[in-house]
Amino acid sequence: MYLEDVKILENRYVGDKYYLMKVRAPKAAKAAKAGQFFMIKCKNDVRVLRRPISLHHADADNEVLEFYYETVGKGTAEFAGLQTGDEINIQGPLGTGFDTGIEGKKVILVGGGMGMAPLKLLAEKLGEKNSVRFIAGGRDAGAVEIVKNFNIDEITVVTDDGSVGVKGNTVEVLKDMLAKDSYDLIYTCGPHGMMLAVADTAYQSGVRCQISLEERMACGVKACVGCSIKTKAGMKKVCADGPVFDAEEILDFDPADKPGCSCN
Ligand SMILES: Cc1cc2nc3c(=O)[nH]c(=O)nc-3n(C[C@H](O)[C@H](O)[C@H](O)COP(=O)(O)OP(=O)(O)OC[C@H]3O[C@@H](n4cnc5c(N)ncnc54)[C@H](O)[C@@H]3O)c2cc1C
Ligand code: FES
Repeated sequence: MYLEDVKILENRYVGDKYYLMKVRAPKAAKAAKAGQFFMIKCKNDVRVLRRPISLHHADADNEVLEFYYETVGKGTAEFAGLQTGDEINIQGPLGTGFDTGIEGKKVILVGGGMGMAPLKLLAEKLGEKNSVRFIAGGRDAGAVEIVKNFNIDEITVVTDDGSVGVKGNTVEVLKDMLAKDSYDLIYTCGPHGMMLAVADTAYQSGVRCQISLEERMACGVKACVGCSIKTKAGMKKVCADGPVFDAEEILDFDPADKPGCSCN
């Protein structure tokens, strides 16, 4: 984990309320793994708490990190106003990340809206030694515009309003894929309800599923209790034990095949 003052190389509007920020981070870019996140310091000292933002992509050779973020409050609105050449302070990489140590497997990535943030680097890493399909879902065209930033061929885009890609939702597309072929692993990040449905679908099909959780975080480094969740193996901290967990570690799928979550 590093604390680095980093220069902004690019901070551009993507669509809707979404932005893509690229920074030069010589230390962190070499250490960061798919699924990890960074605590980004706001420049306005009134906002004392850093904001947790997932690693979208890391290019170790060029020492560049990418963050994909949505403006929801004052901290992220401040990020959106940063210009090329500005400096910010980042802390990370933090958390455990996705399991990328697999080879020769068939996997599906399911991203919903902002949940596509941690999936770009994951798709790239898994794609080196596995067959990867990616289901990218969102409300409308703006919410899935980011897929143009992914280097992957097998993308199915699905939107609620049908403005781009297939009209429908990610879970319907996932069920369709699982009915036609067999897969070894499913990775998902997105709205809570979507992840529950993806995890349940994976469970019903006997496929392992990893989910990336989002909890309010104060410190991001295991020093408070802000992000504690109940798991089958006791209390865990999302910032340090996660944010990625095996779905079966935290979800109760039985008795009536209804997903119940012990993480809230
Ligand atoms: C592990 C992790 C990874 C994340 N990755 C991304 C990402 O890649 N892109 C993205 O746009 N967002 C991501 N988020 C959510 C992001 O952290 C919040 O949207 C952001 O902190 C909101 O800050 P704000 O000042 O704009 O909003 P405000 O609502 O004004 O924030 C007030 C306080 O609440 C905290 N907070 C508010 N919403 C959240 C939230 N959903 N999760 C955690 N803390 C929150 C803020 O950090 C801040 O301390 C992630 C959250 C977590 C926990
Ligand atoms: S955010 Fe403080 S322990 Fe996780």
